[in-house]
Amino acid sequence: MVKKQDVDLQVKLGSVGLATPIVTCSGTSGYGLEYAELTDFSAVGAFFTKSITLEERKGNPPPRVVETRAGLLNAIGLANVGLERFIKEKVPQLKQIPCPVFVNVAGRTIDEYREVAERLDEVEEISGLEVNISCPNVQEGGMSFGTDAREVSRLVSAVRQVVKRCTLVVKLTPNVTDILEPARAAVEAGAQCLSLVNTFTSLAIDIEQHKPVLANVTGGLSGPAIKPIALYMVHRVYTELCRDAGIPIIGMGGVQFGTDAIEFLLAGATAVGVGTALFVEPNTPKILAEELRGYLAERDMTAPVAIIGKLQVPEKGSSEL
Ligand SMILES: Cc1cc2nc3c(=O)[nH]c(=O)nc-3n(C[C@H](O)[C@H](O)[C@H](O)COP(=O)(O)O)c2cc1C
Repeated sequence: MVKKQDVDLQVKLGSVGLATPIVTCSGTSGYGLEYAELTDFSAVGAFFTKSITLEERKGNPPPRVVETRAGLLNAIGLANVGLERFIKEKVPQLKQIPCPVFVNVAGRTIDEYREVAERLDEVEEISGLEVNISCPNVQEGGMSFGTDAREVSRLVSAVRQVVKRCTLVVKLTPNVTDILEPARAAVEAGAQCLSLVNTFTSLAIDIEQHKPVLANVTGGLSGPAIKPIALYMVHRVYTELCRDAGIPIIGMGGVQFGTDAIEFLLAGATAVGVGTALFVEPNTPKILAEELRGYLAERDMTAPVAIIGKLQVPEKGSSEL
């Protein structure tokens, strides 16, 4: 019988070791210390900051968040303090976070991404960079970088050249026909790890005003509503690409309970992100890690690797349409 304390939850993302596979999702717990009194960071696998851009951004006008039946719609618009203030004011505080820190990087042009990534790669408090490719490319008509595999390739290759020390994670947008195309482009361009998924473009309507609820009109949907779609995407990218390429996946989208995290691991994720659920319970990562430990011990398993990618699917063609 394996005891709970005999289970070792450690996993690796690139060269970064995590004490548990449960991490925070970018944009859902600020720069870190805002949550310090509410979250036990020693029980978090890794902390992911909100997106950092070259210039400070105020973000979109309010209202920029609305609750939906099974999720949250947000159009924050990448509000953040910008690269210089982040390095001066926020990085010194990161020393107090007792788990690896990944900084999420965003930009409007490839040069912006590259400049932000190059500077952050020199900061020793930072273990990894997560490149958010959901941003609109202002030089190429405003379409998101992440929806065009060629743009993904150009962007990731440019960032790859300047990131020498940090583990390079690329975070995919799910707003595409086939998630495998940008995933493959990112891996071929040098991503060491993939995060999936970001939010789904959505709309909420005020039926009295006949207007969109959000000032930005559309927003990104997160929370329980997106979990099955996110799971499918992780399964597809794992089986068609990452399993053979040896690239770890950080799976996210609607994770709230231990069972959700276990599903993502079975689908092929090495680590699992918690975002929207942090607004309900900031200590969700610690609770989920303990639930995962219990699940593994009860099945005489000693490490997450025993279930990662272990989803059993019938042979193709064995079921009727
Ligand atoms: C309020 C809010 C802000 C977010 N901000 C960012 C961000 O700045 N950068 C980013 O890459 N993802 C951002 N996300 C997306 C999350 O990191 C995550 O990919 C998504 O919400 C799915 O996970 P969840 O369902 O657990 O929230 C944000 C999500 C929410 C709800």
